[in-house]
Amino acid sequence: MNRRDFLIASAAGAASVAPLSSLAKPRVWKRGEPLKIGVLGVGMRGQVHLKELLRRDDVAITAICDTDPYMIDKALERIAKAGKPKPQVYTGDGDAWRRMYAKSGIDAVFIVTPWELHAVQSIEAMQAKIAVACEVVAGITLDDHWDVLRAQLRTGTPYMLLENVCYRRDVLAALHMARKGLFGEIVHLEGGYQHDLRAVKFNSGEPGKPYGGGYEFGEKGWSEARWRTDHSVRRNGELYPSHGIGPCAMQANIHRGNRFTRLTSYASKARGLHDYIAKNAPEHPNTKVAFKLGDVVQTHLACENGETILLTHDTSLPRPYSLGFRVQGTQGLWMDVNKGIHIEGQSKPHEWDAAEDWFAKHDHPLWQRFADAAKESGHGGMDFFVVNAFVEALRRGEPMPIDIYDAVAWSAITPLSEQSIAEGNRTLDFPDFTDGLWAKRKPIFAFDDRY
Ligand SMILES: NC(=O)c1ccc[n+]([C@@H]2O[C@H](COP(=O)([O-])OP(=O)(O)OC[C@H]3O[C@@H](n4cnc5c(N)ncnc54)[C@H](O)[C@@H]3O)[C@@H](O)[C@H]2O)c1
Repeated sequence: MNRRDFLIASAAGAASVAPLSSLAKPRVWKRGEPLKIGVLGVGMRGQVHLKELLRRDDVAITAICDTDPYMIDKALERIAKAGKPKPQVYTGDGDAWRRMYAKSGIDAVFIVTPWELHAVQSIEAMQAKIAVACEVVAGITLDDHWDVLRAQLRTGTPYMLLENVCYRRDVLAALHMARKGLFGEIVHLEGGYQHDLRAVKFNSGEPGKPYGGGYEFGEKGWSEARWRTDHSVRRNGELYPSHGIGPCAMQANIHRGNRFTRLTSYASKARGLHDYIAKNAPEHPNTKVAFKLGDVVQTHLACENGETILLTHDTSLPRPYSLGFRVQGTQGLWMDVNKGIHIEGQSKPHEWDAAEDWFAKHDHPLWQRFADAAKESGHGGMDFFVVNAFVEALRRGEPMPIDIYDAVAWSAITPLSEQSIAEGNRTLDFPDFTDGLWAKRKPIFAFDDRY
């Protein structure tokens, strides 16, 4: 899709959801003119983004914001060590980010705060014409997602969800293979978030010690234990959909000729978090907490073009990490768990080939070009690509590769799965955030080696 088609598509979507204030030509940054970036939330993940951004000479970190003085100090140390100028610092209270938006003059903000702040911080940034790079997820409730969407359509301010797993090397190689037709017509996809987070959800609360070492959470916890664990107390659903659904949605061309139509979720009983505390600290008062989040939550999505997608959320039991991808078509499949690929006519009948051999032959052009640049980056290199994609698309005034429709639909899986479970695993219609535009829009994600 070229820029003109994109603007027409945006305008058509806006007309039916909310009035579009202007169709101003997107700003383009000239070579040598750095993009002024603010990082909102310089916690554990914010520090990773700082590291990525500090390596680039086409951006300048001109402002940072956090309520935690310990993390502000860490960020300033990191920036000084990289030999970059000291940014403006906004801190002191929970509204300091509003002062950063009003006064700092930043072009873009990385929103790397707890989930419950993402919607309001994104909406106000877009209203202030500050481009948004938002960590996974876009909001909490279904209303949040509509509000974030309407703000983007009304203001035209660029917004990207920072879903890094879309750029994982094997995930992109599988997409490259699918686009070459090697799997045939795609019929079924799987993914998820299967990660033992027990030592993330509980810690001692001591600053600088985010993983394990205690059984505290909430006010007494630190980093994610401070805010994330409470979601496992109060909510039962697919709490972290984007790492799994992002790659599946790109395979299925969701919002670009396809869309999610229905969703059903199931949750197992909740045992893992209680058992973890009871086993290791039987006298701890948190053994009395009743966690609501089922240990294994599975969500089935149906798509307009006939594909099915299965997501699994599994973060409270002992298990090695695996996002459990599966890409299956009429000619063959990739399964992440056994690292196997089978392609009919090329693999021995009923046998698996090592996936790595296929992926080496079909490495995505982005990885062929940037593997060296990504070598030192977080999460096996994929953090380089997601930051690079936002910066490059914004600087060129081009559409965001993971856009507002992707962000709100992927994130809305959470409240919909909660509703499905609460209503006895009822199958729900999936809202069409694009208001029919999905049928006309063309895929744009990762078609070349630029970003
Ligand atoms: N894409 C990935 O691979 C990945 C990995 C880790 C985390 N994340 C996401 O990144 C986000 C942050 O996670 P984290 O692990 O860094 O958590 P964290 O708790 O370590 O960091 C969050 C930071 O936000 C700050 N904060 C809280 N309220 C604030 C406010 N009102 N104003 C300013 N700052 C405020 C906290 O003090 C903290 O430093 C979450 O959305 C999380 O899901 C994504």
